Amino acid sequence: PSVFHFSLSLTAFLVLNLRPMNILALLKSRFAPALKSRVTDPASLLEMIRVAQDAKFGDYQANFAMSLGKTLGKSPRDVATEIAGETQLDDLCLPFDVAGPGFINLKLRDDWLAAQLQAATTDDRLGIEKTTKPRTFVIDYSSPNVAKPMHVGHIRSTVIGDALYRTLQFLGHKTISDNHLGDWGTQFGMIIYGWKHFADAAAFTARPVPELSRLYRLVSKLVEYRESLAALPTVQQKLTQRQAEIKTLQSQPAAADKAAAKKAAQQLAQAQNQAKSLQEEIDSLQTKIAAVEGDPQLAKTAAAHSDIDQRVLAETAKLHAGDAENLKLWHDFLPHCRDEIQRVYKRLNVTFDHELGESFYHDRLAPVVEDFVARGLAKDSQGAMCVFLPGFEAPMIIRKKDGAFLYSTTDLATIQYRRETWQPDAILYVVDHRQSDHFEKLFAAAKLWGCENIQLAHVKFGTVLGEDGRPYKTRSGDTVGLEGLLDEAVSKANEVVKSIDDANPTGPQFSAEQRQNIAETVGIGALKYADLSQNRESDYTFSYEKMLAMNGNTATYMQYSYARVRSIFRKAETTPAAVLAAGGKIVLSHPAERALGIQLLRLAEALATVEAEFRPHYLTTYLFDLAKSYSTFFENCPVLKAETTELKNSRLLLCDLTARTISLGLSLLGIGVVEQM
Ligand code: ARG
Repeated sequence: PSVFHFSLSLTAFLVLNLRPMNILALLKSRFAPALKSRVTDPASLLEMIRVAQDAKFGDYQANFAMSLGKTLGKSPRDVATEIAGETQLDDLCLPFDVAGPGFINLKLRDDWLAAQLQAATTDDRLGIEKTTKPRTFVIDYSSPNVAKPMHVGHIRSTVIGDALYRTLQFLGHKTISDNHLGDWGTQFGMIIYGWKHFADAAAFTARPVPELSRLYRLVSKLVEYRESLAALPTVQQKLTQRQAEIKTLQSQPAAADKAAAKKAAQQLAQAQNQAKSLQEEIDSLQTKIAAVEGDPQLAKTAAAHSDIDQRVLAETAKLHAGDAENLKLWHDFLPHCRDEIQRVYKRLNVTFDHELGESFYHDRLAPVVEDFVARGLAKDSQGAMCVFLPGFEAPMIIRKKDGAFLYSTTDLATIQYRRETWQPDAILYVVDHRQSDHFEKLFAAAKLWGCENIQLAHVKFGTVLGEDGRPYKTRSGDTVGLEGLLDEAVSKANEVVKSIDDANPTGPQFSAEQRQNIAETVGIGALKYADLSQNRESDYTFSYEKMLAMNGNTATYMQYSYARVRSIFRKAETTPAAVLAAGGKIVLSHPAERALGIQLLRLAEALATVEAEFRPHYLTTYLFDLAKSYSTFFENCPVLKAETTELKNSRLLLCDLTARTISLGLSLLGIGVVEQM
């Protein structure tokens, strides 16, 4: 028997008029009044309303009755039946039964789905409403250390940050992007030192950036050499200690009882692991030493600059102290470094509202430290100014013994500035997971400092790996430069576009120039999507072949699907507007049409999860599922050869919605589409 009753309470009436296109949110809002009248906080029960795992149980499932039954001491089936009876659903869902121990299986009405889709056909936002609770987000992303060549790790921050910026903005939030450039660090001390000792003035005049990178690479190699020489003995000593420990552990007689034996085994494994990572550290130090000593010319330079590490620090300190010569050099160099990264941003189609680098905060650092001291939040410890944080073993240092400020001090000053200037509700830091410790401490310190009302989130991401499972490098062993990477992706994309074109003699047959334009969108899109489609916290393996695959969860597949849908309209010699003007109406007559229709309407749900967790991969997963639903629809439902004009028009409108959903979804990821490929 159907348990469905119609009851129009005032709340239900208000809910009805809200009309959110997020189906899941709509269903939750419908169930909320009945749940609220039974428990004070229905949030966890509402979480149990979900998309059905298996289509045979309908489209959505409400599984709260089991838990609620327990709380109320009633049979879950009775609870489910009562609640369903009080809940306004018949305009959305078919009549239903309570199944098994108390599942409410919901199937959406075809006419309701069709009406929602029809409304989307004339809506640029595809029915996605702006949030009624807009928040102000400051998003800190890309943030490279300029003057060092940008590398593949910077893509992740740039691309993930840009996607979050676009998505949050689309959802109606106020978004402020701020590229926190590293423009004030030791790398400038290196370039200044390099300039004073190794500069080739003519090369600088001719092409400043390559000359500056040459200086940076030379000096950093020499500094690393010194640092490695200095560090080696200590690490070697540690290794010797571990090895001795391992020997002792191995020579001990086997423990009598199981627990002791287990403990001994664990101890041994731990010591062996430590020995292994110490050995790796030694290898890497020795590689850096060999890089200099293996090159007679370089070795000679190294010998002549034996205190280079100290002198680079001194140049940096002089810059920070306002030394006229160093400041002038910094002013000369910085614009070139910035131009260099702007070229990359331009190709990635990424812009920032603000680019307030570390140098911007220089004058604010001393007052920040004073304020921490004045509030009793920082204490002197062996000459260094430290913030001791509850729950952390080591303090956060905000001023070193020699008076120098740190990365943390700058980040505190940055929080203060952002708070005063933009009054954000949240600040997102899209930064490598290796900086987790830094951000945990920073957030704890900011909380003590009175920022408890701002959501501070480290939107962390994993490492980009090569196909060998190690951090992605080129053959020569340098970390891959970003521009080379983009060029390669575009040139591989060109081959892919050519092979599609060649395989289809009646197809577009692009000119070389047209193909290059398409390849730029496809290549850059592939690179971005490969990054975004991973759960950001996992490491991801970089592979041109995978990112440009025509079948799979790639931008290329999405862009190709889009272009194919567009080609249907070209073949039909019509436009979506003409179909609508001719009275085109969406009808869902075939299961594949219905499945595509529901999937189209789920964009809002996907965006809501991106918003909640700052994870763009929910959107790529959604798009991939959409492309699959489309392809099933396309195989089963002839469009141009549909039996009737009504059906043809309906299908054309579904095609158009698919194309626009792909295009909107990709645009929120910062990825373009092409009309033909
Ligand atoms: N420049 C830093 C780096 O390359 C990242 C800065 C991230 N943003 C911040 N506010 N700390 O490692």
